[in-house]
Amino acid sequence: MTVRVLLLSAFLVLPPALTAETGYNAWLRYAPLDEAVARRYSEVLPAAIVTLSGAAPIQSAQQELIAGIRGMLGRNLQAVSGTPAGSAIVLATLTELRQAGTPFVLIGTLPADGYWLKTINASGRRYIVITAANDRGVLYGAFAMLRKIALGESIADLDEKQSPSVPARWVNEWNNLDGTIERGYGGRSIFWDDGRSRENLDRVRDYARMLASLGINSCAINNVNADPRLLGSDFIPHVARIADAFRPWGVRVALAIDFGSPRTLGGLDTFHPIDPAVIAWWKFKVDEIYRAVPDFGGFVLKADSEGRVGPSTYGRTHADAANVVARALKPHGGVIFYRGFVYDHHMDWTNLKNDRARAAYDNFHELDGTFDENVIIQIKNGPIDFQVREPASPLLGALDKTKEAIELQITQEYLGQARHLVYLVPMWKETLDFDMRVRGGRTPVKKSVSGFVGVSNVGLSDNWFGNHMSQANLYGFGRLAWNPDLSARQITEEWTRLTFGNDSKLVETITRIQLSSWRTYENYTGPLGLQTLTDIVGNHYGVAVEASERNGWGQWHRADERSVGMDRTVATGTGFIGQYSSAVARFYESMETCPDDLILFMHHVPYTHVLHSGKTVIQFIYDSHYEGAETVARYLREWKSIKGRVDDRRYREVLAQLEYQVGQAMVWRDAVSNWFLHASGIPDSRGRVGRYPGRIEAESMNLSGYVTTPVTPWEAASSGKASRNGALTITFPHGKLTAPPPLAA
Ligand code: GCU
Repeated sequence: MTVRVLLLSAFLVLPPALTAETGYNAWLRYAPLDEAVARRYSEVLPAAIVTLSGAAPIQSAQQELIAGIRGMLGRNLQAVSGTPAGSAIVLATLTELRQAGTPFVLIGTLPADGYWLKTINASGRRYIVITAANDRGVLYGAFAMLRKIALGESIADLDEKQSPSVPARWVNEWNNLDGTIERGYGGRSIFWDDGRSRENLDRVRDYARMLASLGINSCAINNVNADPRLLGSDFIPHVARIADAFRPWGVRVALAIDFGSPRTLGGLDTFHPIDPAVIAWWKFKVDEIYRAVPDFGGFVLKADSEGRVGPSTYGRTHADAANVVARALKPHGGVIFYRGFVYDHHMDWTNLKNDRARAAYDNFHELDGTFDENVIIQIKNGPIDFQVREPASPLLGALDKTKEAIELQITQEYLGQARHLVYLVPMWKETLDFDMRVRGGRTPVKKSVSGFVGVSNVGLSDNWFGNHMSQANLYGFGRLAWNPDLSARQITEEWTRLTFGNDSKLVETITRIQLSSWRTYENYTGPLGLQTLTDIVGNHYGVAVEASERNGWGQWHRADERSVGMDRTVATGTGFIGQYSSAVARFYESMETCPDDLILFMHHVPYTHVLHSGKTVIQFIYDSHYEGAETVARYLREWKSIKGRVDDRRYREVLAQLEYQVGQAMVWRDAVSNWFLHASGIPDSRGRVGRYPGRIEAESMNLSGYVTTPVTPWEAASSGKASRNGALTITFPHGKLTAPPPLAA
């Protein structure tokens, strides 16, 4: 008996970092805190937790606090409803507090979703009040309180009011009804399978909890390349089931719609946006949705883009299209996010004046002022498409009388697809802080937007994204949507502590890796504003320098044998730069001031052009690729240095991912630098590119059972050849391999 008790307590005090973790709980692990720290919190925490109403988000807040405090402090709070009889944590809206006649009075106001954490000592009792203007705000306050405890911050004398920077904090999930996810890297859909909502929606509930912990208040649950079936009367009950799973966490369901639906689904012979029958159809459809889902959030609409139908079919404007849907939503308080991602993907690539980067601005800025008040134009951070580096979209500074939201991509489509560790908060911060200088004063992007939209694409994999480190991108998105003034370092440290623990070496190491990882990825893919240099017409993953050229998609970098880059100047190029305010345009137009990071996005220059850094463009391309690949190798060493400080499973999984990334970064390095050597004929001043002493090419080995085949694109394998179909033995001039990798290049 004694032995059993001892064993049990030994188990309970095991440091959390050593127990196996799947990553499912992400930053909401509530791992036990160090005993001394836990004691300090327990001393100031009342024993009861009171709610004054049965509102579902407030009940969730109560359950979450009970679970979190039990996990972190080992204390069981007592759940109570009604006016508190003694010291208590009180969870209530401001209105409920006023009506309940509590022994204290709180005077103040809060915007929707904002919260107030306040310690009150009254009549010899102690209250920690978590209050807000609405239920959802109370829930956000509860998560904030738990975050404080997990991060070791004081809760002894609270008086903190916080409110979100913008009202609309949405995520979009590009999920198809068959369960696949467009650009999703963490497994199949948590919402859909085989044409209907999943039987078991536990995952959806848990996802809503994660979103709520960040203050995200709406989620569009299907692909922007929308399937019209979703609006069918037989399908709405499926949407309602998901809305029910979201509701306790204050997350409203939203849908991506297809603009042709009045015709394809409604049986009309048109989807003309000002046709009375079409107007009536949208109204009927929206009313039907709200009958099933009274707190429905609204729609996302991708029209006239990448093959989706839109108002251009009838010569009408984007405002006509947005407004017909907005007017149907208006009586219910719904909004429509109309995507600014509209461009022609059949552009003539031989015309040097053509430029896809111009499209969003050209399509929307003249329509400013013609959109209804519940229309929000959803604008990608850059003018192209989530590339490794782009300037802020000029449209983000061009709409004075129209609401706009910034669209950020959490899923790492062009950024390593969760197989490469690439942390995006530093990139997003650059755009959010970029001063568009549009209204005579400082106008950073973050001050112009009234919404944040993150393309998240979580899936059924244990850790939601397929890579533990990628969770930080969702966390960072949510924190920035709440407060874009937070620094990248603060967000990263918070995430690391909550996700992996407070060990200082661990926090320092993971934070350092995360914060530099975007630059590292840029270094070994497409630096200087070249864009990602991946296969833009395929899966957007591997290296393919020429894939963006000689086609209509407009992701051109125009590298030839002498020079490289898109001339987007007003003077001699596409005029894109002229879409910015004059101050910003001057800055980009001149090579004196244009930053090196964007030089090839804005200008076409010879490979011998000398950058501000003092290097030539070509030498920078070579050096950055070597530096990037070396940095990934360093990440691997740094990760190994925290072995034992991270639980074994997550340690091994991140290790395997980094080992893979080290190899892939070398493939990128050699492919891109060889391609540019081939194109420019200018050798690497350090003699590395094209010379690999000690490397044994697959085709020069004696391979039993292997076939040597040419690779497309050629630069993706050294000498353009690879060997496939494995036998188990490779003999080569210096030795023998008995367990060959599946693909030796
Ligand atoms: C990218 C992406 C597509 C997506 C599109 C969009 O082009 O590759 O899969 O549909 O963006 O944002 O609409």
